[in-house]
This record gives sequence, C-alpha cells and structure tokens, in this order.
Amino acid sequence: MKKIKVAIIGASGYAGLELVRLLARHPGCELAALTSLEYPGRTFDQVFPALAGLVNLPFSGAAPEEIAARAEVVFTAVPHQAAMGMIPGYLEKGLKVVDLSADFRFKDAALYEKWYQAHTAQNLLKETVYGLPELHREEVRGKRLVGNPGCYPTCVILGLAPLAQAGLLQPDSVIADCKSGVSGAGRQALLGISFCEVNDGFRAYKVLEHRHTPEMEQELSALAGTRVKVTFTPHLVPMSRGILGTLYAGLTESRAEEELRELYRRFYQGRPFVRLHPAGRLPDTRDVRGSNFCDLALRVDPESRRVIVLSAIDNLTKGAAGQAVQNFNLMLGFPETLGLEVAPFIP
Ligand SMILES: NC(=O)c1ccc[n+]([C@@H]2O[C@H](COP(=O)([O-])OP(=O)(O)OC[C@H]3O[C@@H](n4cnc5c(N)ncnc54)[C@H](OP(=O)(O)O)[C@@H]3O)[C@@H](O)[C@H]2O)c1
Repeated sequence: MKKIKVAIIGASGYAGLELVRLLARHPGCELAALTSLEYPGRTFDQVFPALAGLVNLPFSGAAPEEIAARAEVVFTAVPHQAAMGMIPGYLEKGLKVVDLSADFRFKDAALYEKWYQAHTAQNLLKETVYGLPELHREEVRGKRLVGNPGCYPTCVILGLAPLAQAGLLQPDSVIADCKSGVSGAGRQALLGISFCEVNDGFRAYKVLEHRHTPEMEQELSALAGTRVKVTFTPHLVPMSRGILGTLYAGLTESRAEEELRELYRRFYQGRPFVRLHPAGRLPDTRDVRGSNFCDLALRVDPESRRVIVLSAIDNLTKGAAGQAVQNFNLMLGFPETLGLEVAPFIP
C-alpha cells in the first residue's frame, strides 16, 4: 500500500498525541513531521515514552516550507485562531489539511465571528466541509481542507441526526446534557482542571455560553430543514477520556420506541463507527475508550412524547483524532476504517 507522508502540527497536545498513537500504526501513512513549540529538538519518544520503539521523530518547527518539504497531508491540532493563521500557507504549498480546531467548521463566517473572533481566512470557508463522515462522507472525498467537528457536537449530532432528518424533532425542544472527561480541556496546565480541583467533584460550566452550541445547531438545522435550537449544558467529570450525552427532545409525532430504533438502524446502515444498542442496554464511556465508536441508545416516554437519546464517544478519538483519521482516509481514497480498527479498552 502506498504510504502518504503526514505532518501533525501540535503533536504534543492531547488531540495531537492521539493522532500520533493512531497514525503510528496506520498502514497507509508514514509520520514525517511532528511539531511542538515547547519541545523543539527532542525526540517524540524522549518526551512521551509510551510510544518508545514506535515513534522517534524529533519535534520540529511548523513553517510551511519545512512541512511541505517532508509531508503531503497536514493535521492541525492547535488552538483555534492559530490554525487559520497557518492553514492558508500549507494549502498554498499544495498540502491537504485536516483541521481539528473550530476555524473551518462553519459555513457562515458571521456565525463563527459571533462565537469566536474575526476570521482571517474567510475565502476558504466555501470550499471546506464539516468533517462528520456519517453525514458528509461524499463531500469529504477528495477535499483538500476539512474542518473536523468538535467533540461535544459529534456526540450530540450523531445522537439526534436521524430524528432531525425524519422531521421528528420539535425544533425548539432539544436539551443536550453532556458530561466530558478532563482531556477535553487540552493538556495545558490550568488551575481549574488540576487534580484537586476536579477529582471527587462534578460541575457544569459555560451554561448557555459554550462555543460548540452553534455547531450543533448548524448541522441539525440543515438536516431538519428548519432552525433547530439546542439548549446545551456541558459538565466536567473526573475521568480522563469520554463524553456521555443525555439528549432530550420532543417528537413532532408519536412514535413507538422500536420504530425509532428502526429509523436509527436504517440511517446508520453502512456507517461502521456508530453502534446502536438494543433495547435494555445503555451506552457507557468505558465501552468506547480509545476507539472511534459512537454508541447510541434511545428510550421514548409515550406520555410526554419525549425521546431520550444516550450517546457515548471518546472525545479524543471519535471526538477528535479518530474522526480526523476517518476524514484523512476519505480524502486520500483509503477505506474509511483504515487504521481505526482498534478495539476499545476493557475495562
Ligand atoms: N481535547 C479534545 O478533546 C479535543 C476534541 C476536539 C477538538 N479539539 C481541538 O483540537 C485542538 C487541539 O486541542 P488539544 O486538546 O489537543 O489542546 P492542547 O492539549 O492544549 O494542545 C495544543 C497543541 O497545540 C500546540 N500549540 C499551542 N499554541 C500554538 C500555536 N500558537 N502555534 C502552534 N502550535 C501551538 C501545543 O504545543 P506546543 O506548545 O508544544 O506547540 C500543543 O501541541 C484545538 O483546536 C481543540 O479545540 C480538541
């Protein structure tokens, strides 16, 4: 198999590290450049001995000339704003880019600017695609720039997409009550996510202010053909990885639980990373750790005509790096699951 040379920008962060872990064993790629501002000159395995014997590249700089001399595809796993500062340079050098930040997830620059800051590469927004392959697989194929979705939006959109597309979602009824592990906040040393501030506790944050809300609304509205409003409350739980979403929505028409399960089965047929649980089994973040799976289950309360969907992902895998590799596979013409067949950790 032809090996594509890839660079990971921000390879010392949690999303970048997960990319290194997955791509080190990907049969269609060769790690060619890993960048870090903090560890220049040190080899990857000196800093991260977990991959000793597998990855010993030195960390290098991220200048487009340097990266283009070594790689064909770039994964940008850096904070938003930094990403859109560097991506035009990579594209000008003929590289393909999967961006894990929020900078290329929105079709509407004004919406991005309302929640983030001025967008300095707006000309690229019309050619990017929202890289949720379960919805946009065909659009991702052959693209040179893909905006990889956020972790919470992946969990919520996959949980509600079949209902939105079928016109069964009451557009102003969606409540997304989500819990995330601490790696969702990245690897930088911050007081609020240090051990004693998080361990043995459980708290909500950014209520009505979280920047992932417009991303959920963009995709669910497009599926529903009408504006869908999402009331989203994120919570921090003392675990390293994982997101569990408990998603509540009113149904526009009464439906039996088994009918909805059949709707989900049909919607996700041929989508290998979505696993719909049978009646009586509920998702657990422990069942998806280290894997690209999204586990779903649903219940219907006939009295209130309300559906409750449970959705579990690993934020670093399906919520970030695994999904980025899935997009890479589609962009390069590889089978969608290549390098992602890794089973979840047990226990
Ligand atoms: N964590 C998640 O669950 C998750 C999920 C989905 C998407 N994402 C997105 O993925 C991106 C990375 O997130 P993360 O959680 O991995 O964050 P992180 O752990 O803080 O890592 C950020 C990485 O970017 C590098 N970096 C920081 N500022 C930079 C700059 N100005 N120029 C170049 N490199 C810079 C950092 O390392 P050096 O200082 O060594 O260069 C580090 O390697 C973010 O856009 C985030 O929103 C994260």
